[in-house]
Amino acid sequence: MKAFRFAAGVTALLVSACLAPVAAQAADPIVIAHRGASGYLPEHTLAGYELAVRMGADFIEPDLQFTSDGQLVAMHDATLNRTTNVATLFAPRNGGYRVEDFSLAEIKTLTVKPVGTAQTSYPGFTPANAEMRVPTFQEVIDLAKQQSAATGRTVGIYPEAKQADPAMENAIISTLKANGYGTTGDKLFVQSFSDQTIRSIEEKSAALGMDLATVVLGYATTDSSGAAAIRVGTRVYSMQEIASFTDGIGLSLSAAITADYIAQAHAVGLQVHGWTFSQADPTRAAAQFASYLAMGMDGVFANYPDLAVAAVDTFSSAVPEASTWMMMLVGFGGVGFALRRRKPLAAAKLANA
Ligand code: G3P
Ligand code: CA
Repeated sequence: MKAFRFAAGVTALLVSACLAPVAAQAADPIVIAHRGASGYLPEHTLAGYELAVRMGADFIEPDLQFTSDGQLVAMHDATLNRTTNVATLFAPRNGGYRVEDFSLAEIKTLTVKPVGTAQTSYPGFTPANAEMRVPTFQEVIDLAKQQSAATGRTVGIYPEAKQADPAMENAIISTLKANGYGTTGDKLFVQSFSDQTIRSIEEKSAALGMDLATVVLGYATTDSSGAAAIRVGTRVYSMQEIASFTDGIGLSLSAAITADYIAQAHAVGLQVHGWTFSQADPTRAAAQFASYLAMGMDGVFANYPDLAVAAVDTFSSAVPEASTWMMMLVGFGGVGFALRRRKPLAAAKLANA
């Protein structure tokens, strides 16, 4: 499957070499609500995810941690104290508040508190579930399904395995399978900073007959020849190497990204998503989104999904999609073919005269 995407990518590069604008995205860029609408409401809460959907986000992003009783919960940190009131309810365990030291029942008693620019409510928005509790992965999926039905558009999920743990891989795969995911084209990406985790998820899910789109997270860099590469942990992969086992790369904005870099990733069939767009000022945010979208970035992790949606709408209305360019190419080809046909037809008519 990945080899097919690589071949398709090379083909796309050849086409795009003939038609430069085709080198841009194959579809509209996607908006990924980073930890929900985390700039507005407490991160990784059902209310925050719902607000993101209502703002038009394409995907909601649950980071995943394991509880002591093996349940997947949506939480960025490996500890509970930054984002919840755990310290007011429980004494430390093993010297701290690690998620893996608390049961799901205990974690469900906690309240998620706003951090950063987030508030406890958003003007004019009443969430279906106003309780600021730590949701399970299953509850996030349920919300995506409910919101898909409510809005009439499929809400994608973009779970991240926060631990390089085979048991976590298994739990993510089994949860996805139980919820009907695993078909090519599902609105889903599974992401990790661990190359090994992504390789393993690809292999294990394939063995179950599932096709899960995956994204490896890392930092843009170049190899010794100057070609685009990605640093994942301590290892540097060429674009060809990383494309052999995943569908996309998720890049930190902290390392320089260029249009040429993204073109090299596209050339091997990789999607390119960037994290994290956290600019709250609308004007500055619009400029930042516009610069990366113009480079060809396929997706943006955004703390303020409404600003990202506005930027993508502006970008997409100004730039014809690749499919439009291909239609134009086919159209031009058809005209050329007709003109070429006219000459022998005209000659035949003369011969018959
Ligand atoms: O997963 C992409 C981005 O969210 C990575 O950063 O630390 O917010 O999970 P983090
Ligand atoms: Ca994440």
